[in-house]
Parts: sequence; C-alpha cells; structure tokens
Amino acid sequence: MARSEGLSIVNLDDDGVDLAFRADVLTGLAQAQKAIPARWLYDDAGSELFEDITQIPEYYPTRAETEILQSRAAEFASGIGAGRAVVEFGSGSSVKTPLLLSAIDPAAYVPLDISGDFLRAAAADLAAKFPGLPVHPVEADFMRTVELPDAVADLPKLGFFPGSTIGNMVARTAVDLLRTMRATLGEGAKLLIGMDLIKDEEVLVAAYDDAAGVTAEFNCNLARRINRELAGDIPVESLEHVALWNDDDARIEMHLRAKEAVRFTVSGKSFAMEEGETIHTENSHKFTRRTSNMLLLAGGWTPVKRWLDSKQRFSLILAEASIARSAP
Ligand code: AVI
Repeated sequence: MARSEGLSIVNLDDDGVDLAFRADVLTGLAQAQKAIPARWLYDDAGSELFEDITQIPEYYPTRAETEILQSRAAEFASGIGAGRAVVEFGSGSSVKTPLLLSAIDPAAYVPLDISGDFLRAAAADLAAKFPGLPVHPVEADFMRTVELPDAVADLPKLGFFPGSTIGNMVARTAVDLLRTMRATLGEGAKLLIGMDLIKDEEVLVAAYDDAAGVTAEFNCNLARRINRELAGDIPVESLEHVALWNDDDARIEMHLRAKEAVRFTVSGKSFAMEEGETIHTENSHKFTRRTSNMLLLAGGWTPVKRWLDSKQRFSLILAEASIARSAP
C-alpha cells in the first residue's frame, strides 16, 4: 500500500508499517557497528523533544544563530538584496524565518518539507505574519531536485538552510545535497546556511548530553519508536544515551549503549548486544572556516560572507551558486 502525501510517497505494508523505516532498522541492527539513520529520530514525539532541546541551557546553536539573524539585519539586506524568492529547506522555524524575511524584503517565500502537516502549519504561520508576501509551500523531499512553483520561476532565489542540519550528514551526503540545492535553485541563486563550529569538547558534549536529560529522551525515543512501530521488544531501560566527540571526523556522535548484555526482536528478527555495545543514532559535524568553505565549494557554492555570534560559537554563511569556469 502507498500513502500519498502530496509529492512524497510513504510505502506502508498491510499492517501500516513504514517499509523504509523497517528496512533501515533491520539493516542497521545487523551491522557490526549497529547504526540507524538519524532521520528516524523525528516522529511526532521526537520532533517535540527536538523543539524542547532548542530551549535547554546547554544547547547553544539555536540561540547563537538567532542572535546572528537578529543583529545583522542590515548586512543581510545589503548582501542578499530585495526581491528574491526565499526557498527554505525544511519547514520554517517560528523564530528564525521571520527574522530573515523582515531583514531582506523578499518577493515570495517557498517552504519545502516532506512532512505535509508541519509544512502547512509553518506556511500558515508565516502568511499570517507577512500578509503581503506570497507563500507557496511545496511538499517534497529536498534531498532530490525539486521543481519550484511557476509563480517563482522568474524570480532570483535565496536558499535558506539554518540550524546546521547540514552537519547531520556525512560529507558525501552533504555535498550531494548542496549540489541538489543548486539544481533546485538555479543559476544566480544564493544560499544562506547555518554551520556549527568546532569548540571545547566539554561545551559540545554538554550540548548533546544535557543535565535535564532531554537529549537522552530524544535518543531513547528512537528505541521506543522501534518497539511501537516495528513490533519490537528492545529493553529501553537497559540502554543509555551517550554523546561523544569524535575528533578525527570532527563530530559529536549520539549512541544508545547497552548497560548489560541484551537480546531483543524487531519485526520477528532476533538481535543481541553485548554490555557496552552501541547503536549509533546521529552524527553532528562541526566546522572551521576552512572546512565549511571546502564543503560549500565541493557542493557548487562559493562562500562570500560569514557571520558569527558574539561568543563565536556558530556561523551563518552566505554563498553564491558557483559559475563553471576553467581553473588550474
Ligand atoms: C537538527 N540538528 C541540527 C540537531 C544537531 O544539533 O545536530 C539535532 C540534535 N540532536 C541532538 N541534539 C540536537
């Protein structure tokens, strides 16, 4: 059975199980290093927990990026210019998007999201805040090239990808996405992208292992989701949340670690974990000026301006679609 959600299709079996989720979980749990793609962290409960994470004292990225958007409005206006169609990759956040739209006087706003519910809610919210601004929500998977609405075809575009979500991808996937964004936005496009910075390990680990345990809940919710949706019996109380800094790959990793040896089944398949063994559930890469420039250039974007917050924790980078030309 296929449930159509606008342009996106979620394939379900006769029991309503998301086949892609089951395939990713069964494949990931069968690996030597167990691993499940981070996108499955975001069911309804996980999305709400992520919203809670953005409010916790240790999680600085949201506040730092918001501070940049609040304090640099005049520079965004001159660097980006008026009259662009702002294409946001992901549903607009209630705080950041209005700050950008107020700063640059855009001609239209196009939020892209795979989840129709979030998309419609965010689009309605933005339309109410900016009554004269045409809003054209598009329900689509932005990891693939998206055909934008005819109404914005002739407008210059600004892609907006805040939050350092690019950091949740390994380099190969991040480059693929940047190239896809360039194809979606077309020649002459600009991109405003958030990229979190490398900093003291204690600060980074605390941001992903907060004292109140909200991030631990977010991570453990994945095991609960597997139990709920894939007929699993993972003993969640025998797993613990771990956030660690992987210096070679410049990233925070989230894992679920077995506190004791455990056995469980998921969708009728048996799995076992030794004490101390982990399921890798998320990467959050951090950048320097050079590594963020390198990633953008590899993805077909030339960085032109970079802003940091007052504590130099987070960067917002403006880039232009690179023009193919001969180079040594
Ligand atoms: C969505 N993404 C940018 C967050 C991050 O910081 O990597 C996800 C997150 N995971 C745990 N805390 C926040």
